[in-house]
Formats: sequence, C-alpha cells, structure tokens
Amino acid sequence: MPGAIVEFGIALGGSATALATRRGDRSFHGFDVFGQIPAPDAAKDGERAVRRYAVIAAGQSRGIRGDDYYGYMTDLQQRVTATMGEHGVTVDGRHVALHRGLFDETWPTVADRIPAIAVAHIDCDWHDPVAYCLAAIAPKVQPGGIVVLDDYLDYEGCRAAVDEFLGDHPEFVRRHLDGNLSLRRV
Ligand SMILES: C[S@@+](CC[C@H](N)C(=O)[O-])C[C@H]1O[C@@H](n2cnc3c(N)ncnc32)[C@H](O)[C@@H]1O
Repeated sequence: MPGAIVEFGIALGGSATALATRRGDRSFHGFDVFGQIPAPDAAKDGERAVRRYAVIAAGQSRGIRGDDYYGYMTDLQQRVTATMGEHGVTVDGRHVALHRGLFDETWPTVADRIPAIAVAHIDCDWHDPVAYCLAAIAPKVQPGGIVVLDDYLDYEGCRAAVDEFLGDHPEFVRRHLDGNLSLRRV
C-alpha cells in the first residue's frame, strides 16, 4: 500500500520515534505545537479534561516518573529531533518532518506533500483536534490503511469525535480496541 505515516500529537516523541524507526520507505510527518497543549472545550471534553488542563495551565503538571512536564519545555521540538537521531532517524524535513503549530494551521500548508496515508496515529486528547485530524486525513487514508486513536477510552471528547466521524464515514470500520482504538479504511 502506498502512503505516509502521520502522527498528530508528538509530545516527547516516544510514539513518533517508534513509528519513524519502522517507516521503511514511507515518509513520516509529525504535527504538534511543541509547547503547552491548547485548552479543551468544557462543553465537549467534560470535567476530567478540564481538571487535567487546569493543572497544566497552573504550571503544576509533572512528567512521567516525576520528570519535568514536556509541555513546559521551550526546546521540545529540538529534544524530539535529538531523540530520533539517537535512534538513527534523521529529521530532514522531507522523509521525516516535524511540523510545529496548531494542527489546523500546519496541516493545510503540508497536505499537498502527503497525497496518501497508510498509517495515522491521532494522540491529541480533546474533541476538536481529534475531529479536525480525522476529517483532514480521511480522504487520503488508503484502502487497508490504519488510523489509531490513542485517547478513545481516556477522554470523552475524543470518544465523541470518533463516534461522530464513524457515523459519517462508513468506509472506516473499527479494527481493534485495547487501550487504543484502531480503525481500518475498507
Ligand atoms: C498526549 S500528547 C502526545 C503523546 C505522544 N504521542 C507519545 O506517545 O508520547 C498530546 C500532544 O498533542 C499536542 N496537541 C494537542 N492539541 C493540539 C493542536 N490542536 N495542535 C497541535 N498540537 C496539539 C499537545 O501539545 C501534546 O504534545
């Protein structure tokens, strides 16, 4: 199957590095603000998301095992680039590219460079970005292509966005639900 690997929501680059090291001949495109996550929408994302964001916005969030929280790092994109480099992946802007900014600002500037998608990982927590990313990539996902939703079981806004999308897009079917939800384009 032709197509790129795309990821929306990079943070420290753990899943991005895992995907990029396994990309074979495909290109990898990663998207993130590389800064603090935008706020959820209280009406769509619910109390848990609002509480989580309040901690982040107050500067109180901690990282995994008490490390610094990635959203406060001013050099996050450089760190991800370095992590990828340590794993043999060169961020050259062409075969492997990181696009910094809000998804709805960066995707339109890059979409023409990505005619087909084989694998997409959408890991951005809240309703509106998940809905945006699904709608943006849907026409490019190849038959047999996979879309993984990281937060389907974690955040109600993500779940609602995916369910709304599936209602409007019968060409995508549920493939697997085990922590993450994966969809397949038929
Ligand atoms: C949960 S983290 C990603 C974790 C990463 N995939 C991993 O496995 O380590 C979510 C990321 O999505 C980014 N994000 C959320 N909404 C965004 C938006 N609208 N535009 C750009 N980045 C966004 C956040 O800033 C954050 O870095």
